[in-house]
Amino acid sequence: INYSTPKNRKYILETMVNGLKRLEYRGYDSAGIAVDGGDVKNDSQPTVLVKQRGKVKALEEKIFKSDNFDFETQFSTHCGIAHTRWATHGVPNSVNSHPQRSDDDNCFVVCHNGIVTNYKTIKTFLISHNYEFESETDTEVIAKLIKYLWDNREIEDICFSTLVERVMQQMEGAGAFVFKSKFFPGQCIATRRGSPLLIGVRSKSKLSTDNIPVLYSSFAGERRPSKSGGMNLLSEYIKATKPAVVTNHLHVHSVHKESDIEPTQPDEASKKHIPLTNGQVKMERASSTTELVAQRESEGIEFFVASDASAIIEHTNQVIFLEDDDVAAIVDGGLSIHRIKRGKLNEASTRVITSLELELQQIMKGNHSSFMQKEIFEQPESVVNTMRGRMLWDENRVVLGGLMDHIDEIRRCRRIIIIACGTSYHSAIATRQLLEEMTELPVMVELASDFLDRQTPIFRDDVCFFISQSGETADTLMALHYCKKRGALSVGITNTVGSSISRLTDCGVHINAGPEIGVASTKAYTSQFVALVMFSLMMSEDRLSKRSRYLEIVEALKELPEKIKEVLSLDGEIKKLAECLYKNKSMLVMGRGFNFATCLEGALKIKEITYMHSEGILAGELKHGPLALVDVEMPVVIIVTKDHVYSKVQNALQQVVARHSRPILICEKDDKDSMKYASNILEVPHTVDCLQGILTVIPLQLLSLHIAELKGLDVDFPRNLAKSVTVE
Ligand code: G6P
Repeated sequence: INYSTPKNRKYILETMVNGLKRLEYRGYDSAGIAVDGGDVKNDSQPTVLVKQRGKVKALEEKIFKSDNFDFETQFSTHCGIAHTRWATHGVPNSVNSHPQRSDDDNCFVVCHNGIVTNYKTIKTFLISHNYEFESETDTEVIAKLIKYLWDNREIEDICFSTLVERVMQQMEGAGAFVFKSKFFPGQCIATRRGSPLLIGVRSKSKLSTDNIPVLYSSFAGERRPSKSGGMNLLSEYIKATKPAVVTNHLHVHSVHKESDIEPTQPDEASKKHIPLTNGQVKMERASSTTELVAQRESEGIEFFVASDASAIIEHTNQVIFLEDDDVAAIVDGGLSIHRIKRGKLNEASTRVITSLELELQQIMKGNHSSFMQKEIFEQPESVVNTMRGRMLWDENRVVLGGLMDHIDEIRRCRRIIIIACGTSYHSAIATRQLLEEMTELPVMVELASDFLDRQTPIFRDDVCFFISQSGETADTLMALHYCKKRGALSVGITNTVGSSISRLTDCGVHINAGPEIGVASTKAYTSQFVALVMFSLMMSEDRLSKRSRYLEIVEALKELPEKIKEVLSLDGEIKKLAECLYKNKSMLVMGRGFNFATCLEGALKIKEITYMHSEGILAGELKHGPLALVDVEMPVVIIVTKDHVYSKVQNALQQVVARHSRPILICEKDDKDSMKYASNILEVPHTVDCLQGILTVIPLQLLSLHIAELKGLDVDFPRNLAKSVTVE
């Protein structure tokens, strides 16, 4: 921020804390800020860090109740960074919260959303160079790596954004990052790969341009593939790229020679002198290079970097959305955006300043009416996040890092027992058949409460899985204690790092679906499903007899996000269907085989948020009772896909039709044989049988949502239910 009139520290801190509060819906296990020291009492450090476990409120109290700060200190330029966390590595506590720092002097601090998948390699490299680590986070390696690059810089006045570019070239994984450094006062560098990041611009006068040219760095270094030695070669790598760096450091921001510009690249904007605002900010071109500098002149300009607009919308609606691999440098009130290297030939050469018209509430939920809707629509990305860094597509391999140390023991076990409640239990039902097929082990699936009621016998050579979105469900947790006492190996599958289940289990998998707010679980279910499928693959990677099946599933996982998107495009049709159904009192959902879990989960969604009675029925059991419920009035959903039980589901369909029902079908595209009996048809794309349940459950998530909305119910917080049930 460059203020037109100096602002005091209290104002700065409040702005940052309020921004965090707006983001709290995305994660809330700990929070932290880093601000300029200035006249901080009792502390001469140029960068001061305050971090706190718990909600942003706890951080706020720590900041404002402490007498560390002189709240009246005035700043005319200030850069602060702040973060609220939903842990992916390391339990929530103040050391693990962000900003992460390079050393005790807070020379470099960084906030990060996402995952650094090669953090172990980088950490090993840095430890071998005597860098000491204090947290369990993956992000800390980034703070330390930039310090390493600074300590080993070959030119004295290397610029901050070049250091960040180099860090990004070494980083594998995904994320959005903002950096601050005591060596670069008043500067903030922001970059992203795979996670959203935007820059809000607030200026007193109206901005007179709506796009900013993107510059390309002359820094020619390629990121070393990890196979060729990765970080061990980092020092040589720096030496090898020295000449390029020398060209690069000449200007405040990253620059390139005009001869480097491909003729097809429209770069006109960066060659002209364009006023960005009415005098306050302008873009200039340096004499021998193209360079964008957004300069502060007489009036102030404030930049707000945030992972989504909710954090900044109260300050400005003028926003630039960064693209993957953009490096944005805010230096003394100037903004430049540059890229490490040119990507596709026709990629955009400017970043547009967009005017947001949305209200705060809308932004937090995206454009969605509820968190549940947002979470349903996030599934193409959340399943990618579950697979990220674990599906090694080039090698057709699955590596679940959290199970590596125990995989041999798991392969040798006597049986697998999966214990869970609610939706998490259904994810185990959904994948049980595949687990049995790929491991050839007996697999039991248990509801935690019943498992405990029965005092089920457990042996030392059993492997017990505990699946829980929250990681705190009391029944599941007690079952975990029960199994641990009997000496079984325990494996956690949770969405919440640092939760009781993830801490108490011997090993496990974080599904990385991101925080789920809606009480009715949706994206956590599909991510649990994917995590268990990946586990089945990992268990069978050495089995020759399973090879073609294995490869078929890997291929299908690759295509899954696109197919989920296709299913989500049925939303309009499903809404119309909901209009026909919402006045009914009851609904049956039938299927079998790989789709049985979809019936249970679909019926649970309907119960949970529409308060309508609903039953998930195994089609094989139809004639043993449920058929008595079927008549012309009763809405029946039948799930039929072209797998090994297709003809058996056809029988059920016939039986239902014979009782004058005109069922609603969820079927594969062009299944004409089934369609002729249906009143409504929802066609989903084909995938491998064992993943079909992911595509068939989504229409039921949407159906329950629309019915609940038509009934005017609170979709995110259904009556009598809690997101995390911490009592027995
Ligand atoms: C509660 C929630 C359900 C959830 C179940 C298990 O009942 O309302 O949505 O499926 O708990 O929760 P867990 O966090 O262990 O997956």
